[in-house]
Amino acid sequence: MKILGIETSCDETGVAIFDTESNSIVSEQLYSQASKHAKYGGVVPELASRDHLKKLIPLINLTINESGFSLQELDGIAYTAGPGLRGPLLIGASTAKAMALSLNKPSIGVHHMEAHLLINLLENPAPSFPFLTLLISGGHCLLINAKSLGVYEIIGQTLDDAVGEAFDKVAKILDLGYPGGPKIEALSNQGNSLAYDFPRPMTNKDNFDFSFSGLKTAVYYEYKKIDQISESQKADIAASFQEAVADTLLSKTRKALENTGLTELVIGGGVASNKYIRDRLVTGLSNKNIFFPTIERCTDNGAMIAYAGSHYLKEVEEDFSLNIRPRWPLSEFNNG
Ligand code: KG4
Ligand code: ZN
Repeated sequence: MKILGIETSCDETGVAIFDTESNSIVSEQLYSQASKHAKYGGVVPELASRDHLKKLIPLINLTINESGFSLQELDGIAYTAGPGLRGPLLIGASTAKAMALSLNKPSIGVHHMEAHLLINLLENPAPSFPFLTLLISGGHCLLINAKSLGVYEIIGQTLDDAVGEAFDKVAKILDLGYPGGPKIEALSNQGNSLAYDFPRPMTNKDNFDFSFSGLKTAVYYEYKKIDQISESQKADIAASFQEAVADTLLSKTRKALENTGLTELVIGGGVASNKYIRDRLVTGLSNKNIFFPTIERCTDNGAMIAYAGSHYLKEVEEDFSLNIRPRWPLSEFNNG
């Protein structure tokens, strides 16, 4: 089977084709709108919708041309149905459904967070169910007992800000620009991570939940104390913040592994592309098998949607209503 995947949940337009025969992504295209939103300090939904509208069809054409397959050879179209921004989701969904209708092939709406999780199964070596999953993105921070395909028990989540959101907000405080994660990571390399003793939120609690809003506020108050901030002070704050996030993720994930008895850990979402956090998790959990997607497949992409869609396509009956779900907790998703 050849499945075209379309990702438009936020500010990346991603398109890819997954081929079940070769078990690989045969072609993919990714366009990031980040520079368009940078001057506003975050994603502007209406601008995002317009840009997806402009870029999506040319990217689909490029992806199909590069694959060497014809449109008629596709077996189905997968698209992100949620969670995400309403307008951008509608553009992906309506394009996928229009293609499905004209090609007389099925379409399938994919859960974005499940796609972040499943893309790890394409790596070599790949994890096998059941495994613990830490999903850290711009909108989510989840610890999940992934029991089998489509059966996910959420055992911990953020009570306020997601990790990526905290990175973005701290970058805003430090005036580093958007998206904040990569900027904080780059600046941290020049800073002293022990310079500021920021809180490790909820690490003394006996559960697997997170809270990052207090950490962000602690950064804000330190920043406010400084009259004229120097570049090296900024780097120290960034590095100390990143260290606090890494410590917190490590502590909670270790506890969750001990509690569930699971031996494999899968990590995904945009923040998983942070090399420092990856290293801290690997060294801190050296007795476990840890799986990450490649750096490019941590942030939003079409490959994860095509791959996730390939698991469900056969079960789908075509329905041309635009059934997107901008708010779609993974806890309400159960295919098992
Ligand atoms: O998964 P993703 O691309 O989109 C969502 O599903 O939200 O994640 C985007 C988030 C943003 O908040 C971005 O700042 C963060 O991931 N991010 C990073 C890094 N690269 C992206 N955070 C920390 N370090 C990075 N290198
Ligand atoms: Zn994402």
